[in-house]
Amino acid sequence: MYSIPEDAMTGTAEMLFDFIAECISDFLASQDLKHKKLPLGFTFSFPVRHEDIDKGILLNWTKGFTASGAEGNNVVDLLRDAIKRRGDFEMDVVAMVNDTVATMVSCHYEDHRCEVGMIVGTGCNACYMEEMSRVELVEGEGEGGRMCVNTEWGAFGDSGELEDFRLEYDRKVDEASLNPGQQLPKPVKPTVPHCRPNPTPCSPHRYEKLISGKYLGEQVRLVLLKLANEKLLFGGEVSEQLQTRGSFDTCFVSQIEGDSGDRKQIYNILWKLGLRPSALDCDIVRLACEGVSTRAARLCGAGLAAIIDCMREHRGQGELEITVGVDGSVYKLHPCFKDKFHKTVRDLAPRCDITFIQSEEGSGRGAALISAVASKMAS
Ligand code: GLC
Repeated sequence: MYSIPEDAMTGTAEMLFDFIAECISDFLASQDLKHKKLPLGFTFSFPVRHEDIDKGILLNWTKGFTASGAEGNNVVDLLRDAIKRRGDFEMDVVAMVNDTVATMVSCHYEDHRCEVGMIVGTGCNACYMEEMSRVELVEGEGEGGRMCVNTEWGAFGDSGELEDFRLEYDRKVDEASLNPGQQLPKPVKPTVPHCRPNPTPCSPHRYEKLISGKYLGEQVRLVLLKLANEKLLFGGEVSEQLQTRGSFDTCFVSQIEGDSGDRKQIYNILWKLGLRPSALDCDIVRLACEGVSTRAARLCGAGLAAIIDCMREHRGQGELEITVGVDGSVYKLHPCFKDKFHKTVRDLAPRCDITFIQSEEGSGRGAALISAVASKMAS
């Protein structure tokens, strides 16, 4: 596991892909594999126009990435170029996949009824197996079989569909984000690598901003700030930290809701944020966290129920038995998200019998499985 430093996320594409190539080189060295030219599967968790199994044009960054010179370009080539620039190992990049797709594939390996993949982590997205006859964009439309569709549902709401649900906090989160939504997504033309100025117009990903881990903590911070400013919390005292964007980590939401009832965890977190809470303050903070995470779980559950019920309809079945592979920190680590989310999906898709399986390292293992198949088919 390597975490991507902030300057690589927000610098140039060259910096970002050089960092990725450096990590691969380091990993190969640690496994004593540097001399071998291995097939590589590249999980790239952003919206792309998939032109081939090893070709994807980045449409727009999400989740706070803004590296310039990547949007409009084939990210597999950006990786290949970075590997060439290093020159200390060779790799055959055979496939590029979204993390939802990799998750679905890795879970399908264990349970063949798995035909949906979902991530609720830093970002939020889902993919599913659609009837080929419904896929208008590719040749073979009208034929039998199924094809995986990456919905990129994080961008749902970008044309105004969620306006009835968005609150003042959501608008603030969007405006302050690195991928804000003043502009609607526009088609990006491929450009010469590394010369696109920053920032570019991008998809605000409004649905994702209501649900995913990148934004939940910030939503809670804005709620607390408002309550404190209205003297309903912390005796009206607002610390500098609480006023600082990004200071309320999403893991605090999990920890606060996971408090056993003695408020110890809640006190600790609020003290570290420079606040001096009363017992009632702690209870109110917990309620704010519950409000934000419950809303996220229900909105996310509504999205999945819509997809699954649509699959049932498209297959012309009265009942559908289906498995969903899920990954992501919010789903896995938040103490109550999962249960509320499952309940919402089952309530809203009553004609579907749904099994959820938690994926372990699915986005890496799925890409490896796809690459293994791709390189076998090519040879
Ligand atoms: C963002 C990306 C999407 C990815 C999701 C989860 O929504 O646009 O491609 O699947 O995050 O990582």
